[in-house]
Amino acid sequence: MSTEVEHYKGFTVKPILPGFGAEVAGVPFDQVPLPQETIDALIELSNKYAVLIFRDTGLDDARHVKFSQQLGELEVCPKFGGPDQPDRFSSRYLFDAGNMNLDGSIVKEGTRRWQYNKGNALPHTDSSFNQHRSKYSLLLAHLVPSVGGNTDFFNVRQAYADLPEEKKEVLRELVIEHDLWHSRKIAAPEEFQTVTAHEMAAKQPAYHKFVQTAPNGNETLFIAAHAKRVVGPQVWDLEKSQKLIWELIDHCTKPEYMFSAKWNGPGDMVWWDNRTSMHRATPFSDQMERRDMRRTTVFDDGPYAQGAMPPMLDMPAA
Ligand SMILES: [Fe+2]
Repeated sequence: MSTEVEHYKGFTVKPILPGFGAEVAGVPFDQVPLPQETIDALIELSNKYAVLIFRDTGLDDARHVKFSQQLGELEVCPKFGGPDQPDRFSSRYLFDAGNMNLDGSIVKEGTRRWQYNKGNALPHTDSSFNQHRSKYSLLLAHLVPSVGGNTDFFNVRQAYADLPEEKKEVLRELVIEHDLWHSRKIAAPEEFQTVTAHEMAAKQPAYHKFVQTAPNGNETLFIAAHAKRVVGPQVWDLEKSQKLIWELIDHCTKPEYMFSAKWNGPGDMVWWDNRTSMHRATPFSDQMERRDMRRTTVFDDGPYAQGAMPPMLDMPAA
């Protein structure tokens, strides 16, 4: 697949890797809501490239939400610290992916929220820990640090395609348990040795088939640092499960499957497909500089939206 600039239905499309990631210019974000044919054309590009970058969109909260709603139903965002926690944003559909407290101060190193955010530096896909998973995330920059803070993206679809057929045959059978607290424990083991009752109740594990069909019709892997263990057709123990899962995460995050998206400034937006890619946050001076990033998350409405129920969860681990 080529990485040459193409012109598609009025947009200028600059691919980043062959078939993965593209910068798209020419979208009239000042006119949101957009005509259905524009939305359809953008979804076609999303299906082809999985990660779309739009520069200097001029979007505000209201149009960010409105545009996202044209792509499907939005997740109502969990509030860090509990349902009674006040929010920085007016919309319940905006997830706070920045490092700022309600009063504009920086989230301090060592606090639970700071520890929680460490998990975002692991390769993952958003909301795989939900039984009703998400298809898209749309992350809009409001304030970016002067250095660092890129988001890395991984072409899971291609990484899966490059696996040997014998491996794919094994993977096709498997159902995986995804657990948000699992990835938090990997990133901050001491802090998340104990998960509060509120936290646990807010995010129960979810179950998804390992191998799925991507929106472009190819097979892909549904994988993330949230992936904890194999639960179907047999239950594997944690160690054996993690060995397989991290062998595959390491494979998917090889340099040939990765590009790093730089945030140039406020208004930049990245729309990625969680069903066929992974991403991770990268460091910046998070005790010196503010980063204000707001994300909408669009529910999946495809054949894998509700995941899979593991057939043998009540059996003892093998
Ligand atoms: Fe994420």
